[in-house]
Amino acid sequence: MKEGDRVALLTSGGDAPGMNAALRGAARVGAELGLEVVGVEEGYVGLMEGRVVPLDLRALDEASRRGGTVLGTARSATFPTPEGQKLARETLVKHSISALVVIGGNGSLTGARTLIGAVRIAGLPASIDNDLAATSISIGTDTAMNTIVEACDRIFDTASAHRRTFIVEVMGRDMGYLAMTAGIAAGADAVLVRETGKDADAYVDQVVRTMIHAYKGDHGKRRVLVIKSEGVKIDAAELKRRVDERVKSQLGGVAVDTRVTVLGHVVRGGSPSAFDRLLGARLANTAMRELFLGNTDFMAGWIGPGVEGAAAQHDPYVVTTPLEKVLLDTQLLHAGESPLAAWRKRIYAAVESILER
Ligand code: F6P
Repeated sequence: MKEGDRVALLTSGGDAPGMNAALRGAARVGAELGLEVVGVEEGYVGLMEGRVVPLDLRALDEASRRGGTVLGTARSATFPTPEGQKLARETLVKHSISALVVIGGNGSLTGARTLIGAVRIAGLPASIDNDLAATSISIGTDTAMNTIVEACDRIFDTASAHRRTFIVEVMGRDMGYLAMTAGIAAGADAVLVRETGKDADAYVDQVVRTMIHAYKGDHGKRRVLVIKSEGVKIDAAELKRRVDERVKSQLGGVAVDTRVTVLGHVVRGGSPSAFDRLLGARLANTAMRELFLGNTDFMAGWIGPGVEGAAAQHDPYVVTTPLEKVLLDTQLLHAGESPLAAWRKRIYAAVESILER
């Protein structure tokens, strides 16, 4: 690439705190390299509709402190179709776009792959679920984790006051990463994740066992906190009903009460943590510099467990991985077939009895 070339930034899929910081980083580094950096509104929907807009560095400075994405985001069923692809490619040509930076999760980067060959592509992993391979953490995960911990701290207060068990359901799609890491940080007594491969009865057993241990022991806890990942396919209210039924008969005279809190989209909003702002900025920095050097069809990821490859020349914590490999390894992660998936599964099972104590 050369000075004056136009690079478009696009945020897609579920928003993640830190997306704005990534936009800011990409726009600033792009300006430094002499590139013209523009934005595409509402992800692939805006790309199909030709909604390419100029970016204002000052506005991005302000936005980088906030969650969501100033460009807007969307999930599109039309984009993968031949008509969608045609429209998107027409926009790229019409607006003389030389490179596209896609900031999003698994679905968004799968979308980016369909444009390989039409334009230079760089991906930045952004998803609270942390369900992408080739990055040890995605933009937004740290903030979401902190949001859950803060919510649990509040719930602990009221739970202890009433001697209650709380089942707190958190987002994360099919990945238990967010539930598990936030659960450990919050001091939960049990974390229910899909990866342990239990059936509904076994999840009920896990909660009942935790409650009996907590309330019957000499230490007599005044509350029990159970974090349930949304990937565990038993409705939280149904889980409560079945747990209550069992506990009533097994805890005898001990009066305990259960409540359910579904945190839902609260987990996805809010000001990005310092880490997520920095992660967005640093991944964007490497992505822009690699594009400028002529690289394409890669994702910039954060070095750490399960991430192969040498550090990028621009940052010792950032590694670039071919998009094809990212998507293939992500598939294996979701299927529980990668070394990282096996490690997580082992650790999640081992943590169960440690939390229950
Ligand atoms: O992928 C991010 C995520 O927040 C998941 O954790 C959740 O399952 C999903 O998106 C919710 O999507 P929507 O906002 O479309 O309901």
